[in-house]
Amino acid sequence: MARITAGIGCSHVPALGVASDFDKEEEPYWKPIFDGFEWTRKWESEEARPDVVILVYNDHASAFDMNLIPTFAIGCAERYSPADEGWGPRKVPDVEGHPDLAWHIAQSLILDEFDMTIINEMDVDHGLTVPLSMMFGKPDKWPVKVVPLAVNVVTYPPPSGNRCWALGEAIRRAVDSFPEDLNVQIWGTGGMSHQLQGPRAGLINREWDNGFLDKLIGSTDELRRIQHIEYLRETGSEGIEMVMWLIMRGALGKTTRCLHRHYHVPASNTAIGHIVLEPE
Ligand SMILES: [Fe+2]
Repeated sequence: MARITAGIGCSHVPALGVASDFDKEEEPYWKPIFDGFEWTRKWESEEARPDVVILVYNDHASAFDMNLIPTFAIGCAERYSPADEGWGPRKVPDVEGHPDLAWHIAQSLILDEFDMTIINEMDVDHGLTVPLSMMFGKPDKWPVKVVPLAVNVVTYPPPSGNRCWALGEAIRRAVDSFPEDLNVQIWGTGGMSHQLQGPRAGLINREWDNGFLDKLIGSTDELRRIQHIEYLRETGSEGIEMVMWLIMRGALGKTTRCLHRHYHVPASNTAIGHIVLEPE
């Protein structure tokens, strides 16, 4: 049977993709950030070796815009190309999907009363490709298949943290009932604290971010009860992306163990957070 073996949380700041694409990893500004992912890159390639990643991210007006705003969307395609976000598509490999698993998860979630939007064709932007670069470096071909799971956190109202956590629990049930023997990871991306516009632009909240990382570990489910207004007040307008980490956490079950953790400020104007969790 398929099983979820680990969860990863990480920021997906677009500038990290630029730093990777233009070989800036050793420059003093970027080095401490990339160093914090070194443990994970080694662990992924030598130990964890997942077959598939369910990659929870948000699209940034690349595949969706104000004409179409799915709250939760699942990619069921064979492959996805990197999106052109204004400077041409990133020169990273195409992302290979896993249609059989994706359709199984879609069916399971919908019958489990989560009204998913099914996507059969889309390009994927930095929200999805930057985490792949951080975890796998620069291979000719990504070493995993990916099931993209896109969440609306760009246009009000985004889903509640509690709903995201419950969706994670339902994803776990879906994966557990897929008959093929697959090693599946789930990643939650985005955040951490950042605000890109207005008088509070540049806001970072280290204490709050680290409290959030603390509470992903162990058996507390306190994070699912954080209201949107708290994310806005404490982590800035774009900190709401962190609800996507709760889909990952919900899918790991009651208790988690932390394998690796990293936090750095700033990358561009964002706090970088990264955590690797194992279900216990
Ligand atoms: Fe984002």
